[in-house]
Parts: sequence; structure tokens; C-alpha cells
Amino acid sequence: MTPREQQIYNDGERLVPGVTHNFEELVRHRSSYDFFRRIIEADPRTATPRIVDLGCGVGHGCYHMSSIPGSRVQGIDISALALEYATEKYKADNISYSVGDITGYIPAMQEFDYVISRHALEHVPDGLQLLAQVRFKYRMMIEVPYREDKVNPHHVLTSITESDFAHLDGVEIFFQDFHGGIFPESTPPKAPNSILCVRRDVGLPPISALGAIQFPVQPWEPTDPEFRQLLRDYWKLKLNGEASRLVRMARRLSWTIHKVRRSLS
Ligand SMILES: C[S@@+](CC[C@H](N)C(=O)[O-])C[C@H]1O[C@@H](n2cnc3c(N)ncnc32)[C@H](O)[C@@H]1O
Repeated sequence: MTPREQQIYNDGERLVPGVTHNFEELVRHRSSYDFFRRIIEADPRTATPRIVDLGCGVGHGCYHMSSIPGSRVQGIDISALALEYATEKYKADNISYSVGDITGYIPAMQEFDYVISRHALEHVPDGLQLLAQVRFKYRMMIEVPYREDKVNPHHVLTSITESDFAHLDGVEIFFQDFHGGIFPESTPPKAPNSILCVRRDVGLPPISALGAIQFPVQPWEPTDPEFRQLLRDYWKLKLNGEASRLVRMARRLSWTIHKVRRSLS
């Protein structure tokens, strides 16, 4: 990592795809944004969706959303440095980035068709209470860590559960597991990692009624060459790890056989 990437990474807080974190983390991030994207594309009445990503980090999610035909995407983050990176690496004609603090931004925000946010509201005191003031036309889709018990120095909200969204109406709950798969509340995964709250406008059907999305939604798989290489490296590492584990086991076994033989002779 360069000193700038190190600063953006901020001790593990922020993902820079292909630079920080492991492949599994990239898959979880991408799977979330892919889920948001699939919902927007499946919705019946959005030819030119206006989308805002609250706490967009380096903008990889905005970039993913910007490929929805006709979309206009706004990324908001408190970190000017992360947005500087976003404007260089994740730019497109239909994306704009602005520095903003969610705490002040939400109460004064203009309406967007879709409001999305992944793993940002847990950084904001009263972040989940503020959701009642979010202005959206079609859907608001928010993801945060679920029942997080380890102390993460960056998170001001912990132990978030379904009940933290009880003040909102028209809400559906989903869970993401550690592999990036997304499950409805009725059939949750064994070990949920994140909780997703999707709130809809009264006129829209629930996600479960959008035939285009089948649950559980499978984790995202890389198709662009940059990520394919990352996937190959990941499997190489995993196989190397397995190979060295087998060699160690074989050595231990032959040593035990040797000792047993000696004790018998
Ligand atoms: C864990 S990162 C997630 C970034 C991005 N959503 C992603 O999934 O890669 C959390 C982001 O929230 C931003 N953030 C934290 N507090 C914020 C606030 N009060 N207002 C705006 N952004 C904030 C951080 O700067 C950081 O980029």
C-alpha cells in the first residue's frame, strides 16, 4: 500500500478494491451493491433512477451502480481523501461525489429515487434513528453489521438487530452471510454477518414479490479481469496453504509411525 492508500484504508475501516482486504471481503461488498443494483433494475418504474450512496468510501459501489442504464449517482462521504481517490479511480460522467456528514446531510437532503448505504450508518451516532428522515421516492436500502459483539473502534453503534428498524414502516429485512449470500428474514442464514433494511414507497411491491430476484441471492462473482486475477491469487494461496498443511500432517504421521516402530522393536 502507498502512504495514501494506507490513510484511506484507515486501519481496516475502508475497502479499496484490489488494494486492501482479502478476496472474501471484496465479495461481501460487491454482493451488497449488486443486490441494490438488481432491485433497482427489477423495479417497475425507474427509467432514469437518481441514486445516492451515503458513506460511499472510495466510490466502488457508486461506480457499480452507475452502470445501471439512465442512472445518475451521487456519493456522499465525510472523508475528502476517500473521495479524492473515488474521483480518480471510480469516476464516470453520471457520478458526482461530495464531502458531507450524514448527520447533517439527511435532515436537509433532497429527494432521491433510491437511497443506498453499506456499512456506514454504524459510524454515525443516531444513524439508524435518522433513517426516518431519509427522503426517497422508491426505496431506501441500508446495510449495517448484525449483532456485532467485537469492539470495533470505528463503530459508534453496535449490537444492531431487527428491532433497530422497528420505527420504520414498509420495511423488509434481509441478511448477508460471511460468503456474501443474501437471505430473507423468513429463512435467515446460520451465521448472518450484516442486516439489510429495505424500505419502500407505498406504491411499490415488496422485494419478495419481484419475481426477478430469487433467494438466497448468490454471492457476486468476478467477471472483470482485475478481479479474476485476485480470485486466481486467492485460490493459489488457499491451495498452497492446504498443500503445506498436508505436508505437515504427513511429516507428523511418519514421525509417529517411526516412534511406534521403535517402541515395539
Ligand atoms: C466501512 S466504510 C464503507 C464504505 C462503502 N460504503 C463501502 O461499502 O465500501 C464506511 C464509510 O462511511 C464514512 N463515514 C463515516 N462516518 C460518516 C459520516 N458521519 N458522514 C458521512 N460518511 C461517513 C467513512 O468515511 C467510510 O468511508
